[in-house]
Formats: sequence, structure tokens, C-alpha cells
Amino acid sequence: MKLNIIPVKWTDEGVSMLDQRLLPTEEKWLTLRTYNEVAAGIKDMVVRGAPAIGVSAAYGVALAAKTFVGTNVDDLEEELDFASDVLAKTRPTAVNLFWALDRMKRTFQKAKSEGKSVSEIKQILLDDAKAIHDEDIESQRLIAQFGGELLDDNSTVLTHCNAGALATGGVWGTALGVIRGAVDQGKKVSVIADETRPYLQGARLTAWELMEDDIPVTLITDNMSGHIMKKGGVHAVVVGSDRIAANGDVANKIGTYMVAVLAHRHGIPFYVAAPLSTVDLNCPTGEDIPIEERDEREVTHIKENQLAPLGVGVSNYAFDVTPNDLVTAIITEKGVAKAPYTETLKAQFAS
Ligand code: MRU
Repeated sequence: MKLNIIPVKWTDEGVSMLDQRLLPTEEKWLTLRTYNEVAAGIKDMVVRGAPAIGVSAAYGVALAAKTFVGTNVDDLEEELDFASDVLAKTRPTAVNLFWALDRMKRTFQKAKSEGKSVSEIKQILLDDAKAIHDEDIESQRLIAQFGGELLDDNSTVLTHCNAGALATGGVWGTALGVIRGAVDQGKKVSVIADETRPYLQGARLTAWELMEDDIPVTLITDNMSGHIMKKGGVHAVVVGSDRIAANGDVANKIGTYMVAVLAHRHGIPFYVAAPLSTVDLNCPTGEDIPIEERDEREVTHIKENQLAPLGVGVSNYAFDVTPNDLVTAIITEKGVAKAPYTETLKAQFAS
């Protein structure tokens, strides 16, 4: 793989993020020096994609600790709780955000209970944020390996949104990881990328990532996938996820459900690739997953260009839920889970 992109990095000055709002026309890195800046970076989509949001939130907590001035552990705890709340209020759907904040909280509590000093705790939190990041990259590598085996040689895979290196801790990605895994295994795979209105993650990010890696990609508008499937032009669908409920219902970028219904109609396997940090066993079904609604301007405008009459009523749901019966398999770092997901996903956590 040529690209090897890591979209979020810890540096001595703060958290460095590739500004994904500007891709593909500009590759600009921002340095975020406070947890408030990291929270704004998540909310404003400088960084996006569930695992990347989780890694960023962990670094946000480490940054809150780093910038804390004082020697009292209780005061540090108060500051970290406040920072966690700010980070938690950025985007509601991707559970990786809450997963990472919970883990950092537990790491703090363990260190506190062991009588560590403020400066020791700062280092422990930074080490754990870096561990979350490393573990995420390793999970994507395993997902790529397991998922790559499911794809046939000479196949065309349709994907929706961007579930690539940009959306994760880096290097592989989840859905694009599966594709990269198959290519690594010597298979010829080409990709159809849905443009993914309204935010155009497919057109801007997936097309860019795959072209950088020399993986053949064809961009389509979201309303073309049915026609292409009907003509036999899609052999598998692979998408990522923002939150998978305990029963295997899958929340992902708006439009994923439509793709899943079409895939079912045409007998095409529909695979979901995600690390276990995306699986929320506390959400029994997809009905319990909060769905983000975003600014109507994302629908009425593209950047400064107005597309629709001002004042028109707009819905802008950022995610939808695909029911588990439309999901052929869920690929995680532990392997390939199939229905009944309530049992197979739980078993993966235990393994
Ligand atoms: O709104 P976004 O760009 O954060 O949405 C991203 C997605 O829906 C991805 O498919 C999902 O987070 C999986 S990323 C590996």
C-alpha cells in the first residue's frame, strides 16, 4: 500500500489532524492544542468516521490532562470529567467516541486508586490514548485479513461513505481495509464508490484514498447503485458502521439502508466491517441508536453554492439503521460473525 495515511497524530504541540473538510483539493494539517479545539474538530468534521472520532476523543482527554495546571488529583479528575462531557457532546451516533471516553475514565480511576501523582497520571493517560490508537490500527489490519478472504478475485465491490484509513486510526480502514486486504492477498478488486450525499465522503474521500493506493475506483451518484446492481455490476457490498446494536442492527451513513435493501433484492452479499469498539452491547436493537441530525445547509448548499430555494423545509439525517436480516456478515478484528448476531457478537467479546 502506498498511502499509509494516519489522519490523527499525537505531537509534542498537541493533536495533529488532517483537515478532511478540504480533501481532495487541499492536504492541510491542523494542530489542536486544547481539548476544546479537539471537540470542535470532531463536531466540525475536521476528523470523522467512527474509529477516528474515538481515537481523537482519547487524545482530547490526554490533552486535557496535559494542559491541567496543579498537583491535586481530585482537581484533575474534575477537569477531566468536564473535558469528557464537552467531547461527548460533539456527535451522538458513533459509539467509538463514548467507548474511548469510558476507557480513559477507567484508566484514570485505576491510576487514582493506585495513588499515582498528577504528573504520573498525565503520562498514564497519554500512554493509554496512544494504545487506543495502536490497537485501532491493529484491529483494522485483522479486519482487512479476515474480510479480504470473503471477496472473490476479479470482483467489483460497492461501498458507501468513507470507511477508509481516513475514518480510522489509519493505514487500512474498515470497509476499505477489507478491499485493501483482498488486494494484499493478490486479488483483483475494483470499487464502486457512492458519492454519499449530502457530505460527499464517497466522492471526496473514498475516491481520493483509493486513487492514491492505485485501487481502481468508479464514482457514482447515490441513485445509480440499483441500476448497476440490476445489470450484475456489483459482486459484494462492504460498508463500515458507526454503531452496531447487540442484535446486529447496523447504524451507518445515511443511504446505507437503501443499499442494503437493493443488495438483498439482487442477491448480493452485504458485509459490514467494524472493530468491536463499534459494537454497543448496551443497545439491544437499532431502535436504541441515537441518529444525528445535521445542519440543513449541508442539503441546500454545496460549500457556498446554493442548490435549493432558501426557506425550503429540509431533513438532514446523518445516519440510518440497516436491520440485521439484511446483513450477510459482520467482520471484526475477532473474525467473521454471522446471524444470530446476539450470540455471535457476544461470543466475539468473550473470545
Ligand atoms: O459522518 P461521518 O463521515 O463521520 O460518517 C462516517 C461513516 O458513516 C462511516 O461509514 C463509519 O463511521 C465507519 S468508519 C470506519
